[in-house]
Amino acid sequence: MRTVRTATEMQQVALSHKVGLVPTMGAFHEGHLSLMRAARAECASVVVSLFVNPTQFAANEDLELYPRDEERDARLATEVGVDVLFVPSAEELYPEGFATWVDVEEAGGEAAARPGHLRGVATVCVKLFNIVRPDVAFFGQKDAQQAAVLRRVVRDLNVDVELRVLPTVRDADGLALSSRNVYLSTAERAEALALPRALETGRSAHVQGSDPIAAARAALNGLEPDYVEVIDVGDARVLAAAARVGSTRLIDNVVLEGELR
Ligand code: PAF
Repeated sequence: MRTVRTATEMQQVALSHKVGLVPTMGAFHEGHLSLMRAARAECASVVVSLFVNPTQFAANEDLELYPRDEERDARLATEVGVDVLFVPSAEELYPEGFATWVDVEEAGGEAAARPGHLRGVATVCVKLFNIVRPDVAFFGQKDAQQAAVLRRVVRDLNVDVELRVLPTVRDADGLALSSRNVYLSTAERAEALALPRALETGRSAHVQGSDPIAAARAALNGLEPDYVEVIDVGDARVLAAAARVGSTRLIDNVVLEGELR
């Protein structure tokens, strides 16, 4: 596997069609690896970007704390058969005077709870699409609203890339894998299980014709949600929630109708 650190070098790497991109912020877990394996199965060249994108964190969020271990990530990516690990610096992607943003008009959910977050995500993803020029880019269902926003960006700005959204990978007890799970103490990790359980309760309520949001809220077992909302993601409708467990903010969602693709 080759590691590339500049946009210019990345644009010069000869990649064979079809090119798959897995954008990540590193601290790989099975969720990331499942995206890389899907890219490996479908594409001739697989590029994984590893960049903790500062513009999607607000000033009071965990940018500094966010887990980083490039050596371990590189080893795992090599094992999966990734061709190129693209690891740009913040100065490389946001040079002095950077002033152009991709700002999707989105309301509710993460847009309301984390102002500026989705703008940072959309901007960095468009930059990555322009630098790597992938045919297909792979994202996880856990960040369902992010996937919805990126679909809108690709459609609205005629970006020539196909997006794939793959199912959330969970621990055996149901907790969605997240790089932020490392922040949880043992007691907090047990508390965090209320989030996927509440979403499942919401999904069952929906199947039975009741209000999924009310059912999920009632099942949160004391967790204080930022939101519990139904969000359209392409052809799918998901029940999504964000909640804080101690100082860790977790998000999760379940599909109510349709299929995430
Ligand atoms: O989902 C993530 O890890 C990030 O939001 C992404 C898509 C890599 C953009 O920084």
